[in-house]
Amino acid sequence: MALSPLLLAAVSVLLLLPPPQAAQSAASPRVFSVVDYGAAGDGARYDTAAIQAAVNACAAAGGGRVLLPAPGDYLTATVHLRSGVVLDVPPGARLLGGTRQGDYPPESRRWYVVLAENTTGAGVAGGGEINGQGGAFVVTPSDQKNIMVSWNTTGDCEGDECRPRLVGFIDSKDVRIHDITLNQPAYWWCDNSVIRNVSIYGDFDTPNNDGIDIEDSNNTVITDCHIDTGDDAICPKSSTGPVYNLTATNCWIRTKSCAIKFGSASFFNFERLLFDNITIVDAHRGLGMQIRDGGNVSDVMFSNIKMRTRYYHPSWWGRAEPIYITTCPRHPGYKEGTISDVRFINISSVSENGVFLAGSRHGLLRNLKFENVDLTYKRWTNYTGGLYDYRPGCQEMVKHRTGGMMLEHISGLEIDNVKMRWSKGSLKGWDVNPLLFRPSTIDGLSFHDWQSLDVQ
Ligand SMILES: *[C@@H]1O[C@H](CO)[C@@H](O)[C@H](O)[C@H]1NC(C)=O
Ligand SMILES: *[C@@H]1O[C@H](CO)[C@@H](O)[C@H](O)[C@H]1NC(C)=O
Ligand SMILES: *[C@@H]1O[C@H](CO)[C@@H](O)[C@H](O)[C@H]1NC(C)=O
Ligand SMILES: *[C@@H]1O[C@H](CO)[C@@H](O)[C@H](O)[C@H]1NC(C)=O
Ligand SMILES: *[C@@H]1O[C@H](CO)[C@@H](O)[C@H](O)[C@H]1NC(C)=O
Ligand SMILES: *[C@@H]1O[C@H](CO)[C@@H](O)[C@H](O)[C@H]1NC(C)=O
Ligand SMILES: *[C@@H]1O[C@H](CO)[C@@H](O)[C@H](O)[C@H]1NC(C)=O
Ligand SMILES: *[C@@H]1O[C@H](CO)[C@@H](O)[C@H](O)[C@H]1NC(C)=O
Ligand SMILES: *[C@@H]1O[C@H](CO)[C@@H](O)[C@H](O)[C@H]1NC(C)=O
Repeated sequence: MALSPLLLAAVSVLLLLPPPQAAQSAASPRVFSVVDYGAAGDGARYDTAAIQAAVNACAAAGGGRVLLPAPGDYLTATVHLRSGVVLDVPPGARLLGGTRQGDYPPESRRWYVVLAENTTGAGVAGGGEINGQGGAFVVTPSDQKNIMVSWNTTGDCEGDECRPRLVGFIDSKDVRIHDITLNQPAYWWCDNSVIRNVSIYGDFDTPNNDGIDIEDSNNTVITDCHIDTGDDAICPKSSTGPVYNLTATNCWIRTKSCAIKFGSASFFNFERLLFDNITIVDAHRGLGMQIRDGGNVSDVMFSNIKMRTRYYHPSWWGRAEPIYITTCPRHPGYKEGTISDVRFINISSVSENGVFLAGSRHGLLRNLKFENVDLTYKRWTNYTGGLYDYRPGCQEMVKHRTGGMMLEHISGLEIDNVKMRWSKGSLKGWDVNPLLFRPSTIDGLSFHDWQSLDVQ
């Protein structure tokens, strides 16, 4: 595969860091077993004190591994990781997060089962599982969407995200997460993170259950991940700072929401992001940008991506778009960010809706490129099309005929070898045009080798 400048940049980030295997097999790393500090590992008694004592001893000794011996279920309140400490959870061992609010720090932003703040070189590894016992937070499951029980009745937090998250690295450097299963979401605010061979399972029917949120972080490498969750799977956000140099490669994603989603928190810029070799199955949206708060996106590449996007239910955001790139002010008169230099290369999709590309008056989409893109439009649920979902904010829901590509407020779009295939038999009742333009600024379109074909 040709190495693009972006890809080279990503690889050099990786190479600057010691490979995780080297860290593991380095001359006899110090190992601190939590059992030596009194952990029971019976899943019933809290082992918090023992685990924390082992972490502190390990950090005091200059770093190493804190081992949770298998088999064992280690129930715990928040574990505070320290610099140089890697939590080693081997196959057959599980770290279980407590379900009482008192198990977590007072501030809701710090509610994590494993929390690393201001650390260098901390991580989680080992082949085992970290489990947030998310089931304890779900009630009245309905067919379509579960309701979360949350701690918002205590007044310490609001909304339905009022529950602990699994693994949080805040203001940390050289984070290593590899060979681990996370049964619940994870969060980062960091520099130099490597997230490798991580499986993440969230409840498929529960919203606000993201896979990996990369918030305000630079130089993140995600690779070989398997993510199966209800909400957005890989989600760069910018709330208090920008996101630079993120690469995600070799991942498999299923989600009832958007597989790769920028925003919607987008107060700062997103620059130099690469997504390569990703398989997306049965997502409500594939590749998405929801830029709403004045941050700008530039220099992004999506390459070698196969996806299948379908419609689930009106209560979930999105309408089965394979690609959904939008920027518009969250509130009328609010700041408008631009999205520029975004390439889609070697993409194929089978989807129940078209591509949706919408900038706004002062937030244009500039210089988009589609090269070797194969889009099949096929309906297999009862989705009838005809609705554009601009949420959050903006125009909300807009009734409109369906476009193979819908284009609005764009300056610079290059199409090179793009095929649209219409699975006619499945599209009864659809009111479609291959290309649809809403009345707005569009300039700099270039079409080279574009086809629209009827298929079975
Ligand atoms: C796209 O696919 C072609 C043919 O398989 C390959 O030669 C090219 O390197 C790919 N481009 C990228 C950016 O991966
Ligand atoms: C992003 O990566 C490039 C190339 O490796 C590097 O020069 C630049 O400093 C990085 N940006 C940040 C903010 O770390
Ligand atoms: C973060 O770590 C640095 C250096 O170890 C220290 O000076 C600083 O006080 C720490 N900040 C917090 C919020 O813990
Ligand atoms: C508390 O969370 C529940 C869902 O768990 C939600 O229905 C309710 O609106 C939330 N209340 C507040 C005040 O945020
Ligand atoms: C990935 O991690 C799993 C455990 O989570 C482990 O069994 C497997 O061997 C790892 N794969 C590689 C290639 O390291
Ligand atoms: C990321 O890089 C930008 C540009 O250098 C910088 O302003 C920002 O503070 C960095 N963020 C972190 C978390 O280091
Ligand atoms: C693409 O990713 C898959 C894992 O999802 C991996 O098995 C495969 O080797 C990767 N292909 C390349 C060319 O790296
Ligand atoms: C986004 O770009 C606009 C126009 O160049 C600029 O005015 C604005 O400050 C940028 N936003 C951020 C968060 O840097
Ligand atoms: C479409 O199917 C869903 C789930 O199967 C169902 O809840 C919904 O009522 C159906 N809508 C229409 C318009 O038939």
